[in-house]
Amino acid sequence: MSQTVLGIIIGSVRKNRESIKPAKVLIKMAENLDCRVKILDLLDYGLPVYDESHPEAEKRWIQDILACDALIMVFPEYNHVASPALLNALDYLREYELRDKVVGLVSVSDGNFGGVRGQAVLKASLPTFECILCPLTVAVRLVDKAFLGDGAYDKKYESKFRNLLNAVLNLTLKLKSK
Ligand SMILES: Cc1cc2nc3c(=O)[nH]c(=O)nc-3n(C[C@H](O)[C@H](O)[C@H](O)COP(=O)(O)O)c2cc1C
Repeated sequence: MSQTVLGIIIGSVRKNRESIKPAKVLIKMAENLDCRVKILDLLDYGLPVYDESHPEAEKRWIQDILACDALIMVFPEYNHVASPALLNALDYLREYELRDKVVGLVSVSDGNFGGVRGQAVLKASLPTFECILCPLTVAVRLVDKAFLGDGAYDKKYESKFRNLLNAVLNLTLKLKSK
């Protein structure tokens, strides 16, 4: 069986984005597991607000999504929903691109709830793509205190990320072996 390709979506395009810090920790941990990690940073795509004008970036975004067997979305909560950058990027996709892929969620906020309201929005929306939501999710709360610029972070997130990565990869393997 071919090695699982795990796409890690970085869902904030904000200057000085905080969620890049937990995303980098997650990526490093994933790179030590039996999978090939593909980083899908929404900042690199520069997708305009979806209007069916089919920009060049759309092709690359869709090709990169198709190349992944599973995805983990790391995204901040803005105004009680997932970041508009991530929601916009999802508007470019149809069922075909996400069908039967396992999707894990890591929400991020500088508040106490860690973006769980943003997770709720994605949990309501993602089934329209016929993907498989990993039941385990991670909410990174107080991100600016939990993840520092020098790479130091609250080690409780190590086990949370490990459990999420294992759950996403194990579920993907089970589906691939069917
Ligand atoms: C437009 C905007 C809306 C926000 N809304 C929320 C919110 O609803 N809930 C929350 O906990 N934090 C909210 N925040 C604070 C973010 O959690 C915080 O800025 C976090 O660092 C965002 O991640 P980022 O830095 O990767 O963009 C908001 C921030 C912005 C810029």
